[in-house]
Amino acid sequence: MIQNNLDPAVAQHPEELITYGGNGAVFQNWAQYLLTMKYLSEMTEEQTLHMYSGHPMGLFPSSKEAPRVVVTNGMMIPNYSQPDDWEKFNALGVTQYGQMTAGSYMYIGPQGIVHGTTITVLNAARMKSSGGPEGKLFVTAGLGGMSGAQPKAGNIAGVVSITAEINPKAAYKRHEQGWVDEITSSTDEAIDMALEFQANKRARSIAYIGNIVDLWERMVERNVHVDLGSDQTSLHNPWAGGYYPQGMSYEESNEMMANNPDEFKVRIQETLKRHVKAVNALVENGMYFFDYGNAFLLESSRAGAEIMDEDGELFRYPSYVQDIMGPMCFDYGFGPFRWVCASGDGADLDKTDAIAQEILEGLMAKAPKEIREQMDDNIRWIKGAKENKLVVGSQARILYADSEGRIEIARAFNKAIAAGEIGPVVLGRDHHDVSGTDSPYRETSNIYDGSSFTADMAIQNVIGDSFRGATWVSIHNGGGVGWGEVINGGFGMLLDGSDEAERKLENMLLYDVNNGIARRSWARNKEAIFAIEREMQRTPNLKVTVPKLVDKNVLNNLDF
Ligand SMILES: NC(=O)c1ccc[n+]([C@@H]2O[C@H](COP(=O)([O-])OP(=O)(O)OC[C@H]3O[C@@H](n4cnc5c(N)ncnc54)[C@H](O)[C@@H]3O)[C@@H](O)[C@H]2O)c1
Repeated sequence: MIQNNLDPAVAQHPEELITYGGNGAVFQNWAQYLLTMKYLSEMTEEQTLHMYSGHPMGLFPSSKEAPRVVVTNGMMIPNYSQPDDWEKFNALGVTQYGQMTAGSYMYIGPQGIVHGTTITVLNAARMKSSGGPEGKLFVTAGLGGMSGAQPKAGNIAGVVSITAEINPKAAYKRHEQGWVDEITSSTDEAIDMALEFQANKRARSIAYIGNIVDLWERMVERNVHVDLGSDQTSLHNPWAGGYYPQGMSYEESNEMMANNPDEFKVRIQETLKRHVKAVNALVENGMYFFDYGNAFLLESSRAGAEIMDEDGELFRYPSYVQDIMGPMCFDYGFGPFRWVCASGDGADLDKTDAIAQEILEGLMAKAPKEIREQMDDNIRWIKGAKENKLVVGSQARILYADSEGRIEIARAFNKAIAAGEIGPVVLGRDHHDVSGTDSPYRETSNIYDGSSFTADMAIQNVIGDSFRGATWVSIHNGGGVGWGEVINGGFGMLLDGSDEAERKLENMLLYDVNNGIARRSWARNKEAIFAIEREMQRTPNLKVTVPKLVDKNVLNNLDF
């Protein structure tokens, strides 16, 4: 799993030990990598390797039941967790930015994000407009590591999309890989092509090489009706290349960033103000705009853009988790479950796809109406997964599944391994999930009881998984929305076909999903209350504190 994160076909800057997201590191330097490989090659099943932000502290005696590796990345004393602190302490070599699946050895290339983006765009189109996705226009920015999945996901979801990318190299790379269909440096040509595809209801994707703000402003001038709008530039890292200012080329911007960082910051903030102004104009014209988990709303507010609502308290626009991913997926326990066939054999992946499909179809037959659409989308995804040629690097698959689905699929894999039908399988998930991540501007942005600024859930999750059978666990500061803005964790679990593996997977996966559902239910999210009550009926040993909802009329008429 470490080698896959650093494979030149997979990683963004493998020579710098960076997997994705601009600064998502596996190690801080190559000495750490070599030492880690040495420890892994000689350790026993009664030792655990402890990793401090890429630094292998060493092998400590433990037990067979314990995780083989425990990973922490970027853990800071809270008062020292500002972006500038990261620059300083990373330069000192004492901490690193692990993103989510970079420093936790669970990255599976762009496939993971394609699935999540497809679900988001599809549901945004369903929810925010009448009719299906056909002929709807989706406009966004970024053709980088993760953001490069947007055009492909747009095609799978069935919409027409334009994605702006300032770096010509990144845009051409995605075009050559077949992840985006058309490419142009002209705003007008991009718009004209999109209008034509819309008229013919053809799901096609267009890359516009240039600044996203130029595209938005031209759309306002031409009064184009956009159905869905978003942004996936790297605004979690605005001053060091995550977001590029308007009116300058990519090269000029990079030079200013290095030689005149103060002026660069001013230009970024001016650009963000214009960016939001153009988006606001298109929203008045009927566009549905959502933050795509890249700190767009947060950084726009810091830049003084008109991004707050009338009271100045809340952002004008929702995050994709508030409107879509939270209530439709996370609150029911659906999240980015994934597996990797350790044999590296594509035939094993085909067999696991078939097993997962059969399990999901069986569960669909008895699924309550509340989750049938999610199940249906995921069955369609797994059926088309091979055809969509999503594997880059290891033979891996992502599939949104709930607690029951994850356990049933994992159990069936373990049985197939025991029967010699497939080789061992590594289970895991993105940190961006039901329980793994506390992030008030992303994963937990649909939690409204005030607890979205706490990180107990993510910490409980990693501790809980570690003693229920995970092969390795990790907990990170930063990832997605930025250093100091999120705590996220995950696990890896090796299935080897043994009875022990079956016991571990049942125990750990149940906790790994239901920890988050319980917390979401306690925050009074109705979908999560439904899901946890259903799980308690299935699992008598599970006893969760559920909220007793107060009748609003009683509450509002209290006489003090
Ligand atoms: N929603 C999710 O599930 C999710 C998942 C992963 C990453 N993210 C977030 O999305 C962001 C992008 O991730 P990534 O891995 O693609 O990063 P990346 O840095 O590889 O890609 C961002 C791209 O945006 C381009 N860009 C920057 N400013 C621009 C501008 N003004 N106009 C046009 N293009 C511009 C850059 O050239 C770059 O290629 C990050 O903030 C990341 O944390 C969200």
